[in-house]
Amino acid sequence: MTHSTTRYEFQDKHSDYARLALELASLLAGETDLVANAANTAALIFAAVPNLNWVGFYFLQGAELVVGPFQGKPACVRIPLGAGVCGSAAAQRVTLVVPDVQQFAGHIACDAASRSEIVVPLVSGATLLGVLDIDSPEPARFDAADRHGLEHLAAIFVDSQRTATSA
Ligand code: SME
Repeated sequence: MTHSTTRYEFQDKHSDYARLALELASLLAGETDLVANAANTAALIFAAVPNLNWVGFYFLQGAELVVGPFQGKPACVRIPLGAGVCGSAAAQRVTLVVPDVQQFAGHIACDAASRSEIVVPLVSGATLLGVLDIDSPEPARFDAADRHGLEHLAAIFVDSQRTATSA
């Protein structure tokens, strides 16, 4: 299969995230493999959404998150639940938007270029799968439209796993 990522201008975040969601659903359609779908989701977001320096997954293993497929610089491998932005979002099961990572107590710096961050928990029914973590070198990069759009993309990824477990 050939997949050429659509170019998005991101002048209108709502409409571009909606188009990106359709593209992701098509990219993951018919595939349930966790690593394959996480890798393609990270690659698509990194290629399509401007001003990002890290996009990737951490998956829950016991009481810690372990890094999964990502785009960007090498990252810390294990994050305890409750630690850093990722561990906090996972423990609370809420999306955390951090406009200035230097002001977040306990932030774990993997790439020194990161200035702002959004972490979306991946919850399937009662099960926490992990988190989708996205960093930007731009302060306050993520607004409500980014949060809504990225939560939608994360939900499409989670759905691909729900299909996997119910099949
Ligand atoms: N900044 C994250 C760690 C992961 S890296 O950004 C890839 C945190 O504080 O949890």
